Amino acid sequence: MRLTGKILLITGAGSGIGRATALLAAREGAQVAVADLNMDAAEETVSLLPNGGLAMRVDVGQSADCARMVQEVVARYGRIDILCSNAGYGIQGDVVSTAEEDWDALFRVNVKGVFLCAKHVVPVMRRQGGGAIVNTASNIAIIGLRDRAAYVASKGAVDSLTRAMALDHVADGIRVNAVAPGPIGSPYFDRMIANAPDPAEFKRVLDSRCPMQRLGLPEEVAKVIVFLASDDASFVTGATYVVDGGGVVM
Ligand SMILES: NC(=O)c1ccc[n+]([C@@H]2O[C@H](COP(=O)([O-])OP(=O)(O)OC[C@H]3O[C@@H](n4cnc5c(N)ncnc54)[C@H](O)[C@@H]3O)[C@@H](O)[C@H]2O)c1
Repeated sequence: MRLTGKILLITGAGSGIGRATALLAAREGAQVAVADLNMDAAEETVSLLPNGGLAMRVDVGQSADCARMVQEVVARYGRIDILCSNAGYGIQGDVVSTAEEDWDALFRVNVKGVFLCAKHVVPVMRRQGGGAIVNTASNIAIIGLRDRAAYVASKGAVDSLTRAMALDHVADGIRVNAVAPGPIGSPYFDRMIANAPDPAEFKRVLDSRCPMQRLGLPEEVAKVIVFLASDDASFVTGATYVVDGGGVVM
């Protein structure tokens, strides 16, 4: 029960890593507010929480949505102890094949979304005397990946922003860290596998590229996010924790 009494706000928690984190945080005693672009998915996550929660339809790339989200959480719970900025998505393409509007749309969610959530949450945490923020970056921000130029760059920005925020808000008692997951078996990968010409062969190739011969589980990332959010990580700030089973062998 490492999060007993804590109020945790998590974005992109209608699915995958975010949902697994919401569930684990609730089992650790947190009250969880779930924000997602997909309201049905957010409500489904809340329905799975043992102690209930708050579901909100939020586009993290919209400042007004982020402001309303923070107001709603404070109105319901009175404070925000933990922010997990997890919403994000990837697209394929190198710098030539990536359309400019697709680059802008992805940066609006993956980077501006992290900025906007923090912009609205940090003043609340400051007033309370502290808090913890965990952003979801990616291991490919560090090791790179072919044909994912916009996504790799966006996660590099999340990684750097995490370190900048950690220094800016350390005196406010706010710790800011990131997780950098490797390939995690989430609906994103499920869709990619299902759409492959030979799904079983594609899954075999994906697994064989992982040193542990398998994709990670959303729950394995959730455990690290919950650690970083908890007081067990009281001397950890500005860190990016890689959770990738040893990287990817290409
Ligand atoms: N799955 C992986 O292998 C992997 C690896 C590294 C990093 N990540 C990162 O982890 C995070 C979660 O990924 P996942 O695999 O669980 O993905 P997912 O697609 O299962 O879940 C992402 C959720 O974010 C929501 N979302 C998308 N755009 C949004 C927006 N504008 N505002 C609010 N919510 C929005 C979606 O509706 C969805 O519910 C993402 O930031 C992703 O880039 C994933």
